[in-house]
Amino acid sequence: MSSDTRNHHRVHPVRATAAAIEAAAGHIRAGRLVAFPTETVYGLGADATNARAVAEIYAAKGRPSFNPLIVHVAGLAEAERLAEFPPLARKLAEAFWPGPLTLVLARRAECPIAELVTAGLDSVAVRVPDSAIAGALIAASGRPIAAPSANLSGRLSPTRAEDVACDLGDRVAMILDGGATRHGLESTVVAVAGGEATLLRPGAVTAEAIEAVTGARLRRSLEGGDKPSSPGQLESHYAPSARIRLGAGDAKAGEALLAFGRQVPETHGPVFNLSAGGDLVEAAANLFVGLRTLDATGAATIAVMAIPEHGLGEAINDRLRRAAAPRS
Ligand code: TXA
Ligand code: MG
Repeated sequence: MSSDTRNHHRVHPVRATAAAIEAAAGHIRAGRLVAFPTETVYGLGADATNARAVAEIYAAKGRPSFNPLIVHVAGLAEAERLAEFPPLARKLAEAFWPGPLTLVLARRAECPIAELVTAGLDSVAVRVPDSAIAGALIAASGRPIAAPSANLSGRLSPTRAEDVACDLGDRVAMILDGGATRHGLESTVVAVAGGEATLLRPGAVTAEAIEAVTGARLRRSLEGGDKPSSPGQLESHYAPSARIRLGAGDAKAGEALLAFGRQVPETHGPVFNLSAGGDLVEAAANLFVGLRTLDATGAATIAVMAIPEHGLGEAINDRLRRAAAPRS
């Protein structure tokens, strides 16, 4: 995050017209950073085969370099040039791509992806985003695009172009604006190895949906109490400035309230309801906007009502627990 990685000016989001996407593709080919919308959250993209460009991603985010990145490709055929696809991985790709499922697979020997993308691991994370803008950008650049979420390290993932501009406007060549993202929650990360699928990060595709396709229970990476194998599992992550109090039945004086459902306790403070109808899909899409909105009120603490633990609730609660973890 040294100041020499910054532009002299802040860029403003531009509407993702065909001409803008063409210009963005030129930036990618030239080794520069472009922020773009996917169906999950905005990504901070660079040419995944260009180590220097990838290094710029880490510099811009201020991210510890041991965090490997997801490579975004146009389709299964392109993904197969990068990674080994055992039958189980192919089955998952065919069921969920394009879409918010990231597969962590053994890297192929001839994989042209920069080592820095995979942080030295012999696996690579790939996904095919279900977003016309992302797809057009990948096609126009002709490169696989490495992209973490387009936020500063440890901050909330951006679901709107203006969130990106706020965090990274002085560190990217261009921000493509495609409006608010559909899911508002990152992709589900699943590792496939030895004929087994392991959930590394809950996300927009539910564990239940994956289990329905594989016909087997998903292993959970944290089972057995070993170290997190997906750095997205770092405890204090996705943190707003305010403290987070989970499972709140009320909002105390000075607290902001992140609500869920119809029965909202009375409060004089700011309230953001993730879903008045108690819909977990709507709640997921609103999660980061809600946290950002309440954080911006300056409240010292955000009290969060209980969210059910099924379906997308698992990923929502995972992000919230991370946001609530003690900061180091
Ligand atoms: O929805 C998303 O996934 C968004 C959009 C932009 O595609 N991207 C995103 O990237 O959330 P990021 O960098 O914030 O999170 C990537 C996750 C991390 O938890 C990382 O540890 C994991 O994927 N990951 C990437 N490569 C891996 C690998 N080889 N082995 C294990 N985990 C990996
Ligand atoms: Mg992220």
